[in-house]
Amino acid sequence: MANIDEIRNEINACDVEIARLLNKRMGYVEEIIEIKREQSLPIFQPKQEAKQKEILETIYRGCEYEEENEAVFKTITTMSKKVQAKKLLPYNIALIGFMGAGKSTVSSYLHELLALDLVETDKLIVEQQGMSINDIFAKYGEPYFRNLESNVCIQMMDHKLTVISCGGGLVMRDENVENLKKSSRIVLLTASPETIYERVKDSTDRPLLNGHMNTEYISELMEKRRPKYEAAADFIINTDGKSVREICEELIRVIH
Ligand code: S3P
Repeated sequence: MANIDEIRNEINACDVEIARLLNKRMGYVEEIIEIKREQSLPIFQPKQEAKQKEILETIYRGCEYEEENEAVFKTITTMSKKVQAKKLLPYNIALIGFMGAGKSTVSSYLHELLALDLVETDKLIVEQQGMSINDIFAKYGEPYFRNLESNVCIQMMDHKLTVISCGGGLVMRDENVENLKKSSRIVLLTASPETIYERVKDSTDRPLLNGHMNTEYISELMEKRRPKYEAAADFIINTDGKSVREICEELIRVIH
C-alpha cells in the first residue's frame, strides 16, 4: 500500500492540475465574452447554455462521484458567470423607475444570468426594520422611510458586482443619486401608465397607491417624477411589450 504522504502528494498534484485547468477554462470564458462583444453577439444565449449543460451532464453522469461532480460544476458555472460579469460590468447596475416598471423582475433575472449579487432596497429596509413598508409609512411617516432609503444608498457605495433594485421614489432625493453613482450605472426602466396599472393593480403593499389605484393617478405621479428619473438615468429602457430577457439583452448592450 502507498504511504500516506505519497497519497497526499498525489492529491496536491491533482489540485495543481485542477487549478491550472480552472484558470485555462476561465481564460476561455473571457475570450468568449470578448468575441461576443466584438461581433455584437447576444450576451445571453439560452439555447447554447442548455446545450452546454447537457454536454456537461454527460461528462459526469454515472461516474463514481456524480453528486460531487455536479456540485463542483454548478459552482464552476456560477463562477464563470461572475468572470463574465466582471468583464462586462466594472460597476453595479442600479435599476430605477416607477412602481411596476419591472425593476424586481429584471434585477432577479440579471442576478441569475450574471451571478450578480442582488439588493432590493425595499426588501433590505423591511429586513433591517423588521416591519413592512406599509407599517413603516403608517407608524413613522414617509420622510422616515426616505431617510432609510438614503442610508441604503450609502451602504451600497462599497458594493461591487451587484444589481440594485431601487424603490420607485428613491431617486427623488439628489443625494441618493449622487451616492448611487459612486458605484453604479443607473438604468431607468419606463412603461406606460396603462402597463404600470396592469402590473400593480392587485397589490396592496405600495402605500402611495393605496386608495389611488387608477391610471390617472399613476400618470400624474409619473409625470411629476419624470424630470428626476430622467436626470438620474445614465440609460433609459422602455419595457412596454418586451420580455424580461429582451429587456436584459438591451440593458447589457447599452451599458457597456
Ligand atoms: C415607492 C415605491 C415602492 C416602495 C414604496 C414607495 C415610491 O417601491 O419603495 O412603496 O415612492 O415610488 P417599488 O417601486 O419597488 O414598488
